[in-house]
Amino acid sequence: MTYILTTERLYLREFLPDDAIHFYTMNADYDVLKYTGDVAFKSVDEAKLFLKNYKQYKLHNMGRWAVCLKSNDEFVGWCGLKFHPSENLVEVGYRFYKSHWNKGYATESAKACIDYGFETLGLKTIYAHAHVDNLASHHVINKCGFTLVNEAIYDGMPAKLYKIENLKS
Ligand SMILES: CC(C)(COP(=O)(O)OP(=O)(O)OC[C@H]1O[C@@H](n2cnc3c(N)ncnc32)[C@H](O)[C@@H]1OP(=O)(O)O)[C@@H](O)C(=O)NCCC(=O)NCCS
Repeated sequence: MTYILTTERLYLREFLPDDAIHFYTMNADYDVLKYTGDVAFKSVDEAKLFLKNYKQYKLHNMGRWAVCLKSNDEFVGWCGLKFHPSENLVEVGYRFYKSHWNKGYATESAKACIDYGFETLGLKTIYAHAHVDNLASHHVINKCGFTLVNEAIYDGMPAKLYKIENLKS
């Protein structure tokens, strides 16, 4: 198991094949995918294949990571840094089981990923975007200290793009 970072209540680790059930179940919830543009997995096996083909860690030395509770190892969602080669930028993103919303996990893990991106990976800028109506995500983005760049169509949906700069770089 490859651990990436810990926070007060959480630890982030690389995905494991056994996470497939979580990917399938979490994405099967309409409210979870509502503002993401993603399509639910058809089966646990499809989620397994997705995880098997997930090469971001090797390709870019970063990726989305499983977010687990320190107290009982429960998988509560994912958070992490995604490199977009076409735009040459890194974006933070997050997704949690609905039963774990509004406990501050997205903010806690996103802040830790931003610190990791700046301090460990030496990134200069990290971006984030959210559907204009995804108020919870805008809240998280604001709590992390991002500033608004613009409003644009992103994956066919109206979204706000934000960025945060590494002040030490
Ligand atoms: C967006 C998401 C990751 C937030 O996760 P979370 O762990 O609940 O976030 P946090 O608890 O850290 O913060 C959420 C904040 O939004 C607020 N919030 C939640 N729902 C809200 C709503 N409908 N309107 C306004 N604010 C809302 C919460 O009160 C909280 O703010 P506060 O700490 O000031 O009270 C979660 O809702 C989720 O997984 N959504 C589905 C996937 C998704 O949309 N991902 C983001 C794509 S851009």
